[in-house]
Amino acid sequence: MTAEQIARYIVAEAVWAPSVNNTQPWRFVTGPEPGRQHLGQHASEPDSQQISLHADTDRRLAAADPEGRELMISCGAALFNVRLALRSLGYVPETSVLPDPGQPTLVARVSWRERAAINEFERRLFSQVRKRRTHRGAFDPEPLPPDLLAALRGGAARDGAALRIVADDGRRAALAIAVETAEHQLQQDGERLRELARWTPAPGSACRDGVPATSYPARAEHTSPDFPGRDFARGHGWGTPPLSSATSIRAAGVAGLLTTAADRPLDWVNAGQALQRILLTASASGAAVALHSQPLELPWLREFIRTQLSDSGYPHLVLRIGMVTQVAVSVRRDPRDVLFAPGGDHASLGRG
Ligand SMILES: Cc1cc2nc3c(=O)[nH]c(=O)nc-3n(C[C@H](O)[C@H](O)[C@H](O)COP(=O)(O)O)c2cc1C
Repeated sequence: MTAEQIARYIVAEAVWAPSVNNTQPWRFVTGPEPGRQHLGQHASEPDSQQISLHADTDRRLAAADPEGRELMISCGAALFNVRLALRSLGYVPETSVLPDPGQPTLVARVSWRERAAINEFERRLFSQVRKRRTHRGAFDPEPLPPDLLAALRGGAARDGAALRIVADDGRRAALAIAVETAEHQLQQDGERLRELARWTPAPGSACRDGVPATSYPARAEHTSPDFPGRDFARGHGWGTPPLSSATSIRAAGVAGLLTTAADRPLDWVNAGQALQRILLTASASGAAVALHSQPLELPWLREFIRTQLSDSGYPHLVLRIGMVTQVAVSVRRDPRDVLFAPGGDHASLGRG
C-alpha cells in the first residue's frame, strides 16, 4: 500500500470513534507538513509515512464545552483508532501528542516505519471499531465477564488515565444524583438546548453527524439508582421501540468515572484514548458502556465529583458498564470529507 492508501485506510477506521453528540470534531492531514517537504520528495518516501490529527474547532460545542475538553477527548478516541488501524496493518505507530504549541488545533502526529505482527488482543480490539455502539438505557441483570473490570482499569492506566469503579452504594447514588441534577439543569438552559437541537436530527434525516433517532430508546429505561440519559428526542417521542425480549428486571450496570491526574489538553487527549480502549475492550467481551457527560459540563458539579467521588482525580465521563443486546445504529461522515492533503486540499487526496 502507498502512504496515501494507508492514510485512507486509517481514516476510514478513525471516524468510528465516539465523540460528544457525534460531532466528529476531527480533520486528518496526510504526508509531510508544509515547509518540511524536500524538493522532489515523493509520497512513498519515509517522511510521508505520517498522518496529523487536527481538532475541527468549528464543531466544538460552544455552550456545553467552552474549553474544548470534550472536543479533545473525542479527538483522543479517534487517535486511539488511528494507532489500532496501523497495528492492524502490522505497523508500529510512533505517536506524539500535541507536538506543536504554534499549532493549537494539532492534536497528534502519528508516523509509521517499523513493523511488528499484530497480537491477538489488538486484533480483538480492532474487530470492534465499527461494531461498538454507545449504549443508552438499562442493562440486563447478567454479570460482567470475570476479569473485565480489571482489564478496563489496567487499559486506562496504559493511556495515562484512570477508571475508578464507584462500587459503594452511597457513592453510586451520589453519582446518579449528580447526573440527574445536571440533566435537570441543562433542560432549563435555552442556549444549551438550542445547541443540542443542532446535533439531534429528526428520524429519517440524511445527516451523517449528530445523534440519530436509531441510536437511543424512545422510552427512557429507569434503573435504581437512576442515571437519566440526555434528552436527544427533545420531547418529540423519537427513538427505537423497546426490544420485545426485554425483561422487567433491568440494571444500572457497574458505575465508574474516567479521570486524569491533571487537567491539561494533553490529559484530555489521553482520557479520549483511554475511553476508546475501554469501550473496545468491553465490546470485545460482549459488554456495552453507557456514557454520561452531563455533570462534567457544569463546573460546580464537576468539582463536586472531583472532590467527593474521585479522590481529586479530574473527572471526564461517568460510565456505566453492563451486558445487553444492542440495537443502536449510528452514523458517520464520509472519511473522504475529513482527509486532507498538506495545504488543505482534500479533493485530490480524499476523493482520489
Ligand atoms: C466526550 C464524550 C461525551 C459523551 N457524552 C455522552 C452523553 O452524555 N450521553 C450519551 O448518551 N452519549 C455520550 N457520548 C457518546 C456519543 O454520543 C457517541 O459516541 C456518538 O453519538 C456516536 O455514537 P457511537 O458511540 O454509538 O458510535 C459521549 C461521547 C464522548 C466522546
